Formats: sequence, structure tokens, C-alpha cells
Amino acid sequence: MAADFDGLTAVVTGAGSGIGLATARHLADAGATVFGLDLNAGGMDGIAEWISCDIGSTESVAAAFAVLGTRLDTLDILVNNAGIGAIGSVDEADDDEWTKVLNINVIGVARVTRNALPLLRGSSNAAIVNTCSVAASVGLPKRVIYGASKGAVQALTLSMAADLISENIRVNCVNPGTADTPWVTRLLDQAVDPRAEREALEQRQPNGRLVTADEVASAICYLANPAQRSTTGTILAVDSGMHSLRVSH
Ligand SMILES: NC(=O)c1ccc[n+]([C@@H]2O[C@H](COP(=O)([O-])OP(=O)(O)OC[C@H]3O[C@@H](n4cnc5c(N)ncnc54)[C@H](O)[C@@H]3O)[C@@H](O)[C@H]2O)c1
Repeated sequence: MAADFDGLTAVVTGAGSGIGLATARHLADAGATVFGLDLNAGGMDGIAEWISCDIGSTESVAAAFAVLGTRLDTLDILVNNAGIGAIGSVDEADDDEWTKVLNINVIGVARVTRNALPLLRGSSNAAIVNTCSVAASVGLPKRVIYGASKGAVQALTLSMAADLISENIRVNCVNPGTADTPWVTRLLDQAVDPRAEREALEQRQPNGRLVTADEVASAICYLANPAQRSTTGTILAVDSGMHSLRVSH
């Protein structure tokens, strides 16, 4: 991978933590100049240039791209990765939570992409990768809003891929299983018995361990790599077979 991204520019949303931070690091290590759009700089110092941005706000995204426009003429790679979780069944989820999560996880992807397209159109290597989830294809307990939001991201990925193929802009997504990131640590901290809850999450993965942020980042970089010119409209699972395998008898 080293140098595969030499001279290319990338924007990663949610680059301050977890999967986004690992992706920013992989891209930078492979030669890309990376800009991280996030509420917080998090861990991106020395890896990516932080541009403060709330992907849930039209004004904030426009302001971030106004800054980017002064730094870039073209953009090669957009990784729509920032997202938030939600726990609960349909009778527990109220309208405010639906609105909040769909605004960030779904409309946030559309909002950032809309602003990025004028810059992406100037690239001969343009690629968009969305971070979706195994929750798009498997019914998980107490994940009604989150699963619906990621189902929408999966469908949006395919529609965008169809719309943009004539402009040679590739659009793909990764569907991680439960990944060992600060997100999951926060989730476990809320559990009555975090250790037991972690073990339950590990056992839900067919290989008995959580996915790593680096494994997801590597898959994102594979899809973003200019060598994959024929790969678009692809949903790449990074879930140890969680959506496709039954390993118990
Ligand atoms: N961790 C998992 O188990 C898992 C599994 C499947 C999919 N995902 C997806 O991966 C993506 C990243 O998750 P993670 O586990 O790395 O989480 P994380 O919480 O470690 O990192 C998320 C980053 O997004 C940023 N962010 C949140 N809301 C934002 C907003 N409105 N505007 C800009 N930035 C915002 C946060 O500040 C943070 O830096 C999410 O889309 C999530 O749905 C995670």
C-alpha cells in the first residue's frame, strides 16, 4: 500500500477517533494528504489536518468546505465515516432520537458528499467510501434506529454509485461487525457488567473477537485505492462472517 496514495488528497469524517482515525493514519502512511472533519481534533494531530465540522449541520458542513476550498483544488477520496449510535426497540425510540440519528448518520453522508462533489469532479481517481455496518443487513436486538440508519446508508451507497459512475466517481461501503473502538468502550461503560457485556459482543462474532479499527481502515483503503478502478457499488463486509456464517451446531 505504501505510496499508493502519493500525491492524493483525502477527507475523512470522524477522523478524530476509532475507525476514522485508523483510516486517516493508513491513508497518510500511504502518501495521502488527509483532512479530518470532526467535532473534535481527537487523535489526528500529526496525521490529518483537523477542520471543525458537525456533519449534522448544513451550515457547519458548508463552512468546513469553504475552508477546504482554500486548501485544495481537487479532492480524490472522501470517506464518510462519522456516525452515532442509538440503543432501543421501536417502542422505546422517540421522534427526537429518530430525527437526530437519521440527520447525522444518513443526511450527514448526503450533506458532506454534496459539498465534496465539486472537488471530487476535478480528480481522475475519485472515490467515496461510506462506513456502513453489519446492522444494515442483520436484525440486531435494540438497534432499531441505528439499523435503519445504516440500511439507508447501504441503499444510498448503491444509488450514489449508479448516479456517479458516468463521471468515473466510484462509491462503495464497508460493513464492519462490532469493532473495538472508543464507541464500543462507551457502550460497555453503560452496561451493568461491562466485562460480561464485552464477552457477549465477542461471542456474537463468529471468530470470538471484535473487529479491529485497523482491519476496517485497511478495507476502506482497498476500496479507495486508485488500483480498484472497476470496484463500485460494492458492500464489503468486515465482520468475521457475522452476516453470513453460522458456526454453532
Ligand atoms: N465500532 C463499531 O462497532 C462499529 C461497527 C460498525 C460500524 N461502525 C461505524 O463506524 C463509524 C465510526 O465509528 P467508531 O466506532 O470509529 O466511533 P468513534 O466514536 O470512536 O468515532 C466517531 C468519530 O465521529 C465523530 N463524530 C460524531 N458525530 C459527529 C458529527 N455530528 N460531526 C462530525 N463528527 C462526528 C466523533 O467526534 C468521533 O471522533 C460510525 O459510522 C459507526 O456507525 C462502528
